[in-house]
Amino acid sequence: MRHLLVPEDLSAHEIETIFAISQDLETKYDAGIREALFPGRVLALVFEKQSLRTRVSFQTAMVHLGGSSLFLGADTGFASSRESLDDFGRVLSEYVDCIACRSKSHTTLEALAAVSSVPVINALSDFSHPCQALADCYTLRSRFGRLSDLTFAFVGDGNNMARSLAVTCSLLGMRFVLAAPEAYQFDEAFQEHLKTILPDAQIQQTTDPVTAVKGAVAVYTDVWASMGQESEREVRQAAFQPYQVNAPLMEHCPDAVFMHCLPARRGEEVTDEVIDGPQSVVVAQAANRLHLQKGLLAWLLGHD
Ligand code: CP
Ligand code: NVA
Repeated sequence: MRHLLVPEDLSAHEIETIFAISQDLETKYDAGIREALFPGRVLALVFEKQSLRTRVSFQTAMVHLGGSSLFLGADTGFASSRESLDDFGRVLSEYVDCIACRSKSHTTLEALAAVSSVPVINALSDFSHPCQALADCYTLRSRFGRLSDLTFAFVGDGNNMARSLAVTCSLLGMRFVLAAPEAYQFDEAFQEHLKTILPDAQIQQTTDPVTAVKGAVAVYTDVWASMGQESEREVRQAAFQPYQVNAPLMEHCPDAVFMHCLPARRGEEVTDEVIDGPQSVVVAQAANRLHLQKGLLAWLLGHD
Protein backbone atom coordinates (compact mmCIF):
# COMPACT_ATOMS: atom_id res chain seq x y z
CA MET A 1 0.00 0.00 0.00
CA ARG A 2 1.48 3.31 -1.13
CA HIS A 3 0.64 6.98 -0.56
CA LEU A 4 1.45 9.95 -2.81
CA LEU A 5 1.92 13.00 -0.59
CA VAL A 6 4.94 14.52 -2.36
CA PRO A 7 6.46 13.64 -5.76
CA GLU A 8 9.53 12.11 -4.09
CA ASP A 9 7.28 9.35 -2.75
CA LEU A 10 7.77 7.96 -6.28
CA SER A 11 11.02 6.90 -7.94
CA ALA A 12 11.85 7.98 -11.48
CA HIS A 13 11.13 4.43 -12.60
CA GLU A 14 7.71 4.46 -10.93
CA ILE A 15 6.86 7.79 -12.58
CA GLU A 16 7.81 6.30 -15.95
CA THR A 17 5.54 3.32 -15.21
CA ILE A 18 2.65 5.65 -14.33
CA PHE A 19 3.29 7.66 -17.52
CA ALA A 20 3.18 4.44 -19.57
CA ILE A 21 -0.13 3.35 -18.01
CA SER A 22 -1.54 6.87 -18.49
CA GLN A 23 -0.45 6.89 -22.13
CA ASP A 24 -2.03 3.49 -22.74
CA LEU A 25 -5.31 4.59 -21.14
CA GLU A 26 -5.23 7.91 -23.03
CA THR A 27 -4.71 6.14 -26.36
CA LYS A 28 -7.61 3.79 -25.62
CA TYR A 29 -9.81 6.69 -24.47
CA ASP A 30 -9.09 8.56 -27.72
CA ALA A 31 -10.17 5.40 -29.57
CA GLY A 32 -13.44 5.37 -27.64
CA ILE A 33 -12.43 2.58 -25.24
CA ARG A 34 -13.01 3.06 -21.49
CA GLU A 35 -11.73 -0.09 -19.81
CA ALA A 36 -13.58 -0.87 -16.56
CA LEU A 37 -10.42 -1.89 -14.70
CA PHE A 38 -11.79 -1.26 -11.20
CA PRO A 39 -15.53 -2.04 -10.98
CA GLY A 40 -16.90 -1.51 -7.49
CA ARG A 41 -13.87 0.48 -6.30
CA VAL A 42 -14.53 3.78 -4.56
CA LEU A 43 -12.37 6.91 -4.32
CA ALA A 44 -13.17 9.42 -1.57
CA LEU A 45 -12.35 13.05 -2.28
CA VAL A 46 -11.87 14.97 0.96
CA PHE A 47 -11.54 18.64 0.08
CA GLU A 48 -10.95 21.58 2.42
CA LYS A 49 -10.40 24.07 -0.43
CA GLN A 50 -12.05 24.93 -3.74
CA SER A 51 -11.26 22.92 -6.89
CA LEU A 52 -12.40 22.47 -10.47
CA ARG A 53 -9.68 20.48 -12.24
CA THR A 54 -8.56 18.16 -9.45
CA ARG A 55 -12.04 17.30 -8.27
CA VAL A 56 -13.63 16.76 -11.68
CA SER A 57 -10.67 14.92 -13.21
CA PHE A 58 -10.50 12.46 -10.29
CA GLN A 59 -14.26 11.89 -10.31
CA THR A 60 -14.32 11.40 -14.09
CA ALA A 61 -11.28 9.13 -13.94
CA MET A 62 -13.06 6.81 -11.52
CA VAL A 63 -16.13 6.65 -13.76
CA HIS A 64 -13.93 5.82 -16.79
CA LEU A 65 -12.18 3.08 -14.76
CA GLY A 66 -15.52 1.50 -13.85
CA GLY A 67 -15.50 2.64 -10.22
CA SER A 68 -17.09 5.58 -8.46
CA SER A 69 -16.20 8.47 -6.18
CA LEU A 70 -17.60 10.37 -3.22
CA PHE A 71 -17.03 14.09 -2.83
CA LEU A 72 -16.70 14.93 0.88
CA GLY A 73 -16.73 18.62 1.71
CA ALA A 74 -16.90 20.57 4.95
CA ASP A 75 -20.09 18.85 6.16
CA THR A 76 -18.21 15.58 6.87
CA GLY A 77 -16.20 17.33 9.61
CA PHE A 78 -12.70 16.60 8.32
CA ALA A 79 -10.00 18.31 10.44
CA SER A 80 -12.67 19.98 12.57
CA SER A 81 -13.79 19.78 16.19
CA ARG A 82 -16.44 17.17 15.29
CA GLU A 83 -14.09 14.22 15.77
CA SER A 84 -10.39 13.49 15.82
CA LEU A 85 -8.49 13.25 12.56
CA ASP A 86 -7.39 9.73 13.53
CA ASP A 87 -10.98 8.56 13.98
CA PHE A 88 -11.98 10.22 10.70
CA GLY A 89 -9.16 8.59 8.75
CA ARG A 90 -9.45 5.15 10.31
CA VAL A 91 -13.20 5.01 9.66
CA LEU A 92 -13.17 6.51 6.15
CA SER A 93 -10.49 4.08 5.01
CA GLU A 94 -12.73 1.17 6.09
CA TYR A 95 -15.31 2.28 3.50
CA VAL A 96 -13.29 3.25 0.43
CA ASP A 97 -10.36 1.95 -1.66
CA CYS A 98 -8.44 5.21 -2.00
CA ILE A 99 -8.57 8.76 -0.60
CA ALA A 100 -7.63 11.95 -2.47
CA CYS A 101 -7.34 14.84 -0.03
CA ARG A 102 -6.96 18.60 -0.56
CA SER A 103 -5.92 19.93 2.81
CA LYS A 104 -5.17 23.39 4.10
CA SER A 105 -2.13 22.05 5.90
CA HIS A 106 0.31 19.42 4.66
CA THR A 107 0.67 18.22 8.24
CA THR A 108 -3.01 17.28 8.28
CA LEU A 109 -2.54 15.26 5.11
CA GLU A 110 0.44 13.42 6.63
CA ALA A 111 -1.62 12.66 9.73
CA LEU A 112 -4.45 11.29 7.58
CA ALA A 113 -2.05 9.06 5.63
CA ALA A 114 -0.51 7.80 8.87
CA VAL A 115 -3.82 6.25 10.01
CA SER A 116 -5.33 5.33 6.63
CA SER A 117 -5.51 1.67 5.62
CA VAL A 118 -5.87 2.68 1.94
CA PRO A 119 -3.66 4.83 -0.32
CA VAL A 120 -3.88 8.60 0.27
CA ILE A 121 -3.20 10.95 -2.65
CA ASN A 122 -2.31 14.60 -2.09
CA ALA A 123 -4.87 16.54 -4.15
CA LEU A 124 -3.00 19.77 -3.17
CA SER A 125 -1.72 20.98 0.15
CA ASP A 126 -0.03 24.23 1.08
CA PHE A 127 3.30 22.40 0.60
CA SER A 128 2.89 20.28 -2.53
CA HIS A 129 0.73 19.49 -5.56
CA PRO A 130 2.21 16.27 -6.94
CA CYS A 131 -0.67 15.31 -9.28
CA GLN A 132 -0.37 18.61 -11.15
CA ALA A 133 3.41 18.35 -11.39
CA LEU A 134 3.20 14.78 -12.72
CA ALA A 135 0.57 15.78 -15.29
CA ASP A 136 2.73 18.74 -16.34
CA CYS A 137 5.78 16.55 -16.95
CA TYR A 138 3.53 14.09 -18.79
CA THR A 139 2.40 17.03 -20.96
CA LEU A 140 6.01 18.00 -21.69
CA ARG A 141 6.96 14.41 -22.46
CA SER A 142 4.09 14.17 -24.97
CA ARG A 143 5.20 17.42 -26.57
CA PHE A 144 8.99 17.00 -26.71
CA GLY A 145 9.27 13.21 -26.74
CA ARG A 146 11.85 13.32 -23.92
CA LEU A 147 12.59 15.26 -20.73
CA SER A 148 16.20 14.50 -19.92
CA ASP A 149 18.52 17.55 -20.11
CA LEU A 150 15.72 19.99 -20.96
CA THR A 151 15.44 23.21 -18.93
CA PHE A 152 12.25 24.13 -17.07
CA ALA A 153 11.79 27.73 -15.85
CA PHE A 154 9.34 28.62 -13.09
CA VAL A 155 8.76 32.39 -12.83
CA GLY A 156 6.89 33.39 -9.68
CA ASP A 157 6.29 32.25 -6.14
CA GLY A 158 8.40 29.39 -4.75
CA ASN A 159 5.15 27.77 -3.63
CA ASN A 160 3.53 24.31 -3.52
CA MET A 161 3.55 24.16 -7.33
CA ALA A 162 7.19 25.27 -7.69
CA ARG A 163 8.36 22.80 -5.03
CA SER A 164 6.52 19.87 -6.64
CA LEU A 165 7.81 20.76 -10.09
CA ALA A 166 11.40 21.19 -8.87
CA VAL A 167 11.32 17.64 -7.51
CA THR A 168 9.40 16.02 -10.38
CA CYS A 169 11.49 17.70 -13.10
CA SER A 170 14.70 16.73 -11.30
CA LEU A 171 13.62 13.12 -10.82
CA LEU A 172 13.05 12.99 -14.58
CA GLY A 173 16.46 14.48 -15.44
CA MET A 174 15.46 18.06 -16.27
CA ARG A 175 17.22 21.25 -15.18
CA PHE A 176 14.98 23.48 -13.03
CA VAL A 177 15.30 27.25 -12.58
CA LEU A 178 13.16 29.33 -10.22
CA ALA A 179 12.99 33.10 -10.80
CA ALA A 180 11.51 34.84 -7.76
CA PRO A 181 12.23 37.69 -5.37
CA GLU A 182 14.65 36.42 -2.71
CA ALA A 183 11.97 36.42 0.00
CA TYR A 184 9.82 34.04 -2.09
CA GLN A 185 12.49 31.56 -3.18
CA PHE A 186 12.83 28.06 -1.69
CA ASP A 187 13.64 28.25 2.01
CA GLU A 188 16.77 26.74 3.57
CA ALA A 189 14.95 23.65 4.85
CA PHE A 190 13.59 22.77 1.40
CA GLN A 191 16.95 23.45 -0.27
CA GLU A 192 18.62 21.10 2.21
CA HIS A 193 15.90 18.51 1.56
CA LEU A 194 16.53 18.78 -2.20
CA LYS A 195 20.27 18.26 -1.71
CA THR A 196 19.58 15.17 0.38
CA ILE A 197 17.03 13.47 -1.87
CA LEU A 198 18.41 14.64 -5.25
CA PRO A 199 22.14 15.25 -4.81
CA ASP A 200 22.79 15.39 -8.57
CA ALA A 201 19.84 17.62 -9.46
CA GLN A 202 20.48 20.83 -11.39
CA ILE A 203 18.26 23.30 -9.52
CA GLN A 204 19.00 27.01 -9.61
CA GLN A 205 17.37 30.08 -8.12
CA THR A 206 17.66 33.61 -9.49
CA THR A 207 15.99 36.97 -9.10
CA ASP A 208 16.18 37.56 -12.87
CA PRO A 209 13.29 36.16 -14.97
CA VAL A 210 15.14 36.78 -18.26
CA THR A 211 18.11 34.64 -17.14
CA ALA A 212 15.66 31.92 -16.08
CA VAL A 213 13.71 31.66 -19.33
CA LYS A 214 16.66 31.83 -21.77
CA GLY A 215 17.18 28.30 -23.10
CA ALA A 216 14.10 26.91 -21.33
CA VAL A 217 11.65 24.63 -23.13
CA ALA A 218 8.88 25.53 -20.67
CA VAL A 219 8.02 28.72 -18.79
CA TYR A 220 5.63 28.12 -15.92
CA THR A 221 3.87 30.46 -13.55
CA ASP A 222 1.21 30.26 -10.86
CA VAL A 223 -0.80 32.73 -8.81
CA TRP A 224 1.21 35.10 -6.63
CA ALA A 225 -1.06 34.47 -3.62
CA SER A 226 -2.17 30.85 -3.22
CA MET A 227 -5.34 29.67 -1.51
CA GLY A 228 -4.95 30.57 2.16
CA GLN A 229 -2.66 33.58 1.42
CA GLU A 230 -5.42 36.00 0.40
CA SER A 231 -4.50 38.47 3.16
CA GLU A 232 -1.00 38.84 1.63
CA ARG A 233 -2.33 39.63 -1.82
CA GLU A 234 -1.40 43.33 -2.01
CA VAL A 235 2.13 42.84 -0.65
CA ARG A 236 2.69 39.96 -3.04
CA GLN A 237 1.32 41.89 -6.04
CA ALA A 238 3.94 44.57 -5.46
CA ALA A 239 6.77 42.07 -4.92
CA PHE A 240 5.97 39.94 -7.98
CA GLN A 241 5.13 42.68 -10.52
CA PRO A 242 8.57 42.36 -12.23
CA TYR A 243 7.90 38.60 -12.56
CA GLN A 244 4.79 38.85 -14.73
CA VAL A 245 4.99 36.43 -17.68
CA ASN A 246 4.22 38.69 -20.63
CA ALA A 247 5.08 38.95 -24.33
CA PRO A 248 8.41 40.79 -23.80
CA LEU A 249 9.57 38.02 -21.42
CA MET A 250 8.45 35.24 -23.80
CA GLU A 251 10.45 36.91 -26.62
CA HIS A 252 13.55 35.57 -24.83
CA CYS A 253 12.35 31.97 -25.38
CA PRO A 254 10.38 31.86 -28.66
CA ASP A 255 10.46 28.03 -28.79
CA ALA A 256 9.28 27.49 -25.21
CA VAL A 257 5.78 26.50 -24.17
CA PHE A 258 3.92 28.58 -21.61
CA MET A 259 2.43 26.60 -18.71
CA HIS A 260 0.12 27.39 -15.79
CA CYS A 261 -1.67 24.97 -13.45
CA LEU A 262 -4.80 27.22 -13.42
CA PRO A 263 -6.78 28.92 -12.05
CA ALA A 264 -4.96 32.03 -13.32
CA ARG A 265 -5.23 35.66 -12.26
CA ARG A 266 -5.10 37.10 -15.75
CA GLY A 267 -3.33 40.48 -15.83
CA GLU A 268 -1.31 39.60 -12.72
CA GLU A 269 1.13 36.68 -13.07
CA VAL A 270 0.34 36.30 -16.79
CA THR A 271 -1.11 38.48 -19.53
CA ASP A 272 -4.03 37.42 -21.74
CA GLU A 273 -1.68 37.70 -24.71
CA VAL A 274 0.56 34.92 -23.35
CA ILE A 275 -2.01 32.58 -21.78
CA ASP A 276 -4.19 32.74 -24.92
CA GLY A 277 -1.22 32.90 -27.31
CA PRO A 278 0.41 30.28 -29.55
CA GLN A 279 2.99 29.20 -26.94
CA SER A 280 0.36 28.37 -24.30
CA VAL A 281 -0.40 24.72 -23.47
CA VAL A 282 -2.56 25.39 -20.40
CA VAL A 283 -5.63 23.55 -21.70
CA ALA A 284 -3.55 20.47 -22.61
CA GLN A 285 -2.12 20.54 -19.07
CA ALA A 286 -5.60 20.58 -17.56
CA ALA A 287 -6.77 17.80 -19.92
CA ASN A 288 -3.78 15.66 -18.96
CA ARG A 289 -4.80 15.74 -15.30
CA LEU A 290 -7.49 13.22 -16.29
CA HIS A 291 -5.11 10.89 -18.14
CA LEU A 292 -2.30 11.10 -15.60
CA GLN A 293 -4.59 10.51 -12.63
CA LYS A 294 -6.15 7.51 -14.35
CA GLY A 295 -2.66 6.07 -14.68
CA LEU A 296 -1.89 6.94 -11.07
CA LEU A 297 -5.10 5.36 -9.78
CA ALA A 298 -4.56 2.24 -11.87
CA TRP A 299 -0.99 1.98 -10.52
CA LEU A 300 -1.97 2.59 -6.88
CA LEU A 301 -5.04 0.34 -6.89
CA GLY A 302 -3.07 -2.33 -8.69
CA HIS A 303 -0.72 -2.36 -5.68
CA ASP A 304 -3.45 -3.39 -3.22
N1 CP B 1 -4.73 23.07 -11.03
C1 CP B 1 -5.62 22.68 -10.09
O1 CP B 1 -5.32 21.91 -9.19
O2 CP B 1 -6.85 23.23 -10.25
P1 CP B 1 -8.05 23.14 -9.20
O3 CP B 1 -7.64 23.96 -8.00
O4 CP B 1 -9.23 23.72 -9.92
O5 CP B 1 -8.26 21.71 -8.81
N1 NVA C 1 -0.56 27.57 -5.74
C1 NVA C 1 -1.97 27.46 -6.01
C2 NVA C 1 -2.22 26.29 -6.90
C3 NVA C 1 -3.67 26.07 -7.26
C4 NVA C 1 -3.88 24.90 -8.16
C5 NVA C 1 -2.72 27.35 -4.69
O1 NVA C 1 -2.27 26.61 -3.81
O2 NVA C 1 -3.76 27.99 -4.53
